Amino acid sequence: MIEELLPGAVAVVEAYDGDALGDGVSLYPEEEAVIAQAVEKRRREFTAVRACARQAMEKLGVPPQPVLPGERGAPRWPDGLIGSMTHCAGYCAAALVPAGDLVSLGIDAEPHDRLPEGVLEAVALPTEQTRLRGLARSHPSIHWDRLLFSAKESVYKSWFPLTGKWLDFLEADIEIDPGAATDVSGGFRARLLVPGPLVDGRRIKAFDGRWTVLRGLAATAVVVPRP
Ligand SMILES: CC(C)(COP(=O)(O)OP(=O)(O)OC[C@H]1O[C@@H](n2cnc3c(N)ncnc32)[C@H](O)[C@@H]1OP(=O)(O)O)[C@@H](O)C(=O)NCCC(=O)NCCS
Repeated sequence: MIEELLPGAVAVVEAYDGDALGDGVSLYPEEEAVIAQAVEKRRREFTAVRACARQAMEKLGVPPQPVLPGERGAPRWPDGLIGSMTHCAGYCAAALVPAGDLVSLGIDAEPHDRLPEGVLEAVALPTEQTRLRGLARSHPSIHWDRLLFSAKESVYKSWFPLTGKWLDFLEADIEIDPGAATDVSGGFRARLLVPGPLVDGRRIKAFDGRWTVLRGLAATAVVVPRP
């Protein structure tokens, strides 16, 4: 699912509930130490997504190795790789690419359901809320509020490795392109309302991404290409 949203150079490995997420996978001791105190649900998702990350490393010819959380929880990838991970009920995915191919990337998956009461107002700008109402009228089968939320998470996951800074939900204005009327995928653009990171001397003003709704999930991916 997320593979469809990313360029071909990105190695994506996904797992669904039916794949017995994380069963039979042993963590490296360093990873084990990170989640020693975690509840069972967190341990399962942490393990399952790392199994995906190891397979993605193998796809790229990189020996599998631990993926430890770094600053503010951002995953620390082996030298020369960049990537992103996501997990939600019944699904997890890891996407990795050689650092020479892309500057940054972020992926996110969520259950394709309405956001809980009050969340949209907290994470969406008034202009975004207005656009979502229009999308809901023209494409009522899609939970656009959830897609917007997922897009913001993907933006943050691609923003953070470039800046090392927090980005508030209201600091990016996201416009979602609904795609073809019969399709369940499309693109989006996140216009930054704060100064973006400098990449090779060029200031990034917007992040571009793609979305899809499939198998009860809403998924998004953001890619920052080399200038
Ligand atoms: C960090 C965050 C984006 C994770 O998203 P989520 O939907 O809660 O959870 P997901 O399962 O999709 O992703 C979790 C993975 O994100 C990754 N992640 C966590 N912090 C991260 C960071 N600072 N930068 C990049 N990736 C990060 C980790 O790999 C994590 O998995 P792990 O803990 O097993 O290693 C979210 O919790 C958060 O803090 N959001 C607030 C910031 C934001 O979204 N701003 C919007 C800007 S427009």
